[in-house]
This record gives sequence, C-alpha cells and structure tokens, in this order.
Amino acid sequence: MDTRVIIFANRKGGSGKTTTAINCAHGLSKKGSVLFIDMDAQAHASSVLASGSINQKVTVAEVLKQNIPIEQAIEKSRLPNLAIITSSRDLGSYELGAEINKESVVILADALASQFKFYDYILIDPPPTLGVLMTTSLVAAHEVYIPMPFHFLAMEGLAEMMRVIYRLNAEVNQTLHLCGIIPTFFNKRIKTSQKIQQEIETNFGKQIIMPAIRNNIKLAESPAYKQTIFEYSKRSIGAKDYQDLVDKIAENTSGK
Ligand SMILES: Nc1ncnc2c1ncn2[C@@H]1O[C@H](COP(=O)(O)OP(=O)(O)OP(=O)(O)O)[C@@H](O)[C@H]1O
Ligand SMILES: [Mg+2]
Repeated sequence: MDTRVIIFANRKGGSGKTTTAINCAHGLSKKGSVLFIDMDAQAHASSVLASGSINQKVTVAEVLKQNIPIEQAIEKSRLPNLAIITSSRDLGSYELGAEINKESVVILADALASQFKFYDYILIDPPPTLGVLMTTSLVAAHEVYIPMPFHFLAMEGLAEMMRVIYRLNAEVNQTLHLCGIIPTFFNKRIKTSQKIQQEIETNFGKQIIMPAIRNNIKLAESPAYKQTIFEYSKRSIGAKDYQDLVDKIAENTSGK
C-alpha cells in the first residue's frame, strides 16, 4: 500500500481535530504502521501519545528550521506501531518568525518523502490558525478530513477551508484532496445539524460525510489521563464512534 498522508484540518478552533487525530492514530496503528506529526504548539496530542516528558525532546520545530534530519526527530510513542514527531511551545516562535514562501512551505513535504517506505499512514494534527504551520501541513498532506461540529456558521468555516485546499492544490500540491467531512460533537436532534448535513450532501454528495462522532464525556475526559479513548473507555460511545470512523478511513481510497 502507498503511504497515505492524512491531515485533520479546520480553521475553526475546538472543532475536534486533535481528539480525532489521536484516536484515529491509535485505531489505524492496529491496521498498519503510523507516524504521527504534532504541528500544534499547544502539544496536546504529544502529551497524550508521547512516552515520557515532552519537554526534553527534539521536536518538529527543529525539522522545520532544518537543524536536523527528520529521522532524528522521530521517536517511539507509548503505543506499538505508532511513531511520533512531537511538538512543543517553541513551535509558536517558529510560526511567528517564519515567512510563508515557496521554500518554507515544502520543508515538511520534502522531509516526509524520505519516510514513506516505513509507514502506511502519516497523520498530521495542525493548529487552527492559517499560518505557516497549517500551510506547511497541508502542503505535506494527500488527504484532508475536516472534523466539524454541524453548528451555526459551520458552512462559512467549510467554505474557507475549501478555498485554501483548492488554492494549494492548484499551486503547490496536486495530490491534496478533500476526502471526508467528519461531524463532531454530533447530535442529530439539533435541527441546525440536519440542515447542515443536507447542505453538505447537496454540495459534495453523500459519500463525503464520514461516520459521526457524538458528544461523549469520555472523549473530553481521556486526555487528562493521557489516554486515547480505546485505552480510557473501550466500551464508550466515543470508542464506538471512533472505531467506525477508523474503519471507514482505512477503506476510503477516494483520495487516490
Ligand atoms: N465528541 C466529543 N464529545 C465531547 N468532548 C469532545 C469531543 N470531541 C472533542 N472533545 C473535547 O473538546 C475540546 C476540543 O477538542 P479538540 O482539542 O480535539 O479540538 P481541536 O479542534 O483540536 O482544538 P484546537 O483548535 O484548539 O486545536 C477538548 O477538550 C476535547 O477533549
Ligand atoms: Mg487541536
């Protein structure tokens, strides 16, 4: 199988990107080898997946500054079959200092190409801001999945993401495609959610909508215990929803 580079992206903060990336990483690591890249200075995903303290580690910032080759930044996570490049707060200063230009946005893509032979899946957790980190992440990716609460104003956020994907696809990364929209914090009884679902189906077709992730307290609790949902509460609704999503992503080859 060719390596699939998957990004969970949305311009909207708190839309369930990191929760989705962490749990899909664990789920997919049972199906193939996974490399996880934490591109968010908040380092939430690193704090759940990395082994030991994340403060002394070599982080993705060093790769982006081209101080070290990527293989020196890759380490084992707590989980089998899952490697990680961690983030830390320094990534914030990289974001402030780096310009978005033709050279800077391809650094991650170029570095990752050398690792394709080792992994079935490379998953990227970007920040919500549309700066150099998000752009670099999108340029490195093949498949975009958009985790998105089906709430008021959600369509505006989606339209903005679509413009970014189309532009990057035309200018720098022809392999970049929208492969799925993941309803997060989902509650089908909310009328707005039903309307948004219909609107998306009309614009993109039914198949773009992935299995929904319902609101589930266990999903909100698990990061505090530094666990994925499959470790923290295997029988929860959150674990069931993420397992369905993982199975769907594993078989979804619409990005090819
Ligand atoms: N389905 C869910 N049910 C309940 N809580 C959830 C669910 N998904 C995520 N959460 C919680 O909501 C908060 C935001 O989720 P998360 O951090 O995954 O979003 P994000 O899009 O990565 O945010 P940011 O834009 O800051 O990176 C977290 O506290 C998370 O634990
Ligand atoms: Mg996040």
